[in-house]
Amino acid sequence: EARVTVPLLQQWKTEGRRLVMTTAYDAATARIADPVVDLILVGDSVGNVCLGFDNTLPVSMAMMNHHLEAVTRTRPRALIVADMPYLSFHLSAEETLRNAGGFMQRGASAVKLEGGAKRLDMVRALVDCEIPVMGHLGLTPQSVNVMGGFKVQGRAADDALRLLDDAHSLEAAGCFALVLEGIPTELAARATESLRIPTIGIGAGPDCSGQVLVFHDVLGLLQGHKAKFVRSYVDGFGVLQDALSRFAEDVRGGAFPTAQESYRLPEALRAAVAA
Ligand code: KIV
Ligand code: NA
Repeated sequence: EARVTVPLLQQWKTEGRRLVMTTAYDAATARIADPVVDLILVGDSVGNVCLGFDNTLPVSMAMMNHHLEAVTRTRPRALIVADMPYLSFHLSAEETLRNAGGFMQRGASAVKLEGGAKRLDMVRALVDCEIPVMGHLGLTPQSVNVMGGFKVQGRAADDALRLLDDAHSLEAAGCFALVLEGIPTELAARATESLRIPTIGIGAGPDCSGQVLVFHDVLGLLQGHKAKFVRSYVDGFGVLQDALSRFAEDVRGGAFPTAQESYRLPEALRAAVAA
């Protein structure tokens, strides 16, 4: 199938075709996701999902670049969006451009950054330098300390209106799409119908232009608390651990490897080695 582009996503919203996004963090996950989804997000969720951190704040540009390169080496047809980690787009326009430009030079087709009004200058600077920007509003995980936890946002009247305002400001600043995370259905629906650009929801109800879930959540690979909005389509953790258990059992019982799974010396040399 043809490569997914930024203008194509706008066309799909107009046609009412829902967008599908998931995350990938390396070549293996990218190859599984690519034939299936429209957008691959190299998310800073790599921090929790792959690197063992409690939240995304410790994720650095070096870590993101390492994972992004593994994904782009597989040359996906899906649109690759690289997630700007905490502190990579806060300090100055120059640093923001250098970081985002580095993502583009590594094969990303767009970047994503969290936040509304406070980040508009950075969004404009990126768009001015030919870098497509995906916004991200609502429960923005990099704001965990300000929010006092991972809590649904936009429930109070002033918060809801601010979110709609931020959404329209981001569109005006040139964002090509918005992730809406952890907000009430009605608010996401209102944003989606009043914006021209597509919205991609996660915990934002069914009325967004598309949906995103973390790869490891879709595949049930994570243990522990699962958010209400996560639907796992397979108990990946259980399935994979069961397969690994059968390997361990075969090794311990001497059933692995068999002769068919082993190499032999040429017949003429066998006696010499055996002696
Ligand atoms: O990092 C991430 O995985 C994300 C998505 C959940 C939107 O930002
Ligand atoms: Na993220």
